[in-house]
Amino acid sequence: METNVVLVGFSGAGKSTLGKQAAPLLGLRFVDLDHYIEQKLQYSVPQLFSQFGELVFRKCEYDALQELLEEDGQLIAVGGGAPCYAQAMPLILERSLSVYVKLSEEVLVNRLAHSKKRRPLTVDLSDDELRRYVHETLQRRAPYYEQAHLIIERDDLTPEALAEAIRKRLNASS
Ligand code: S3P
Repeated sequence: METNVVLVGFSGAGKSTLGKQAAPLLGLRFVDLDHYIEQKLQYSVPQLFSQFGELVFRKCEYDALQELLEEDGQLIAVGGGAPCYAQAMPLILERSLSVYVKLSEEVLVNRLAHSKKRRPLTVDLSDDELRRYVHETLQRRAPYYEQAHLIIERDDLTPEALAEAIRKRLNASS
């Protein structure tokens, strides 16, 4: 397919898991932006945060996204913060069909409570702090996510339903 699809949304929304399974259904190559950065730089995301700081990570993230979007045929899952820094969202809007995988705050908090250790921004938070972090960060980030071409708001979203919604949208705009 001669297009790119970019999945945006908060950490814990399932962008990578859903994207990996939806991509082949659409004839697209799946790319996880965090994984792509880790391969390219030979540092894990937590290492990039702890050794160089968040701003350096954001610059790497933007550069990697720009590089990837020079090619077509990919379904790219980007990290929760990626669309909200520099000119990333305008770039995503220009070079892809963007999809906001929107989950309720409650589901996000529950999911992150089980996987926070893998994520540098939530690793040290207590349950109460995590709840506050999700609430406050989501408020700040939602205006970026909400610009996506397609918003899918379903706590029980499956890869098949995601692929179907993307296919419909691509057909409608072609
Ligand atoms: C981040 C989300 C992570 C990763 C990094 C920062 C964020 O990706 O890019 O830890 O700022 O929300 P996921 O959205 O896949 O967790």
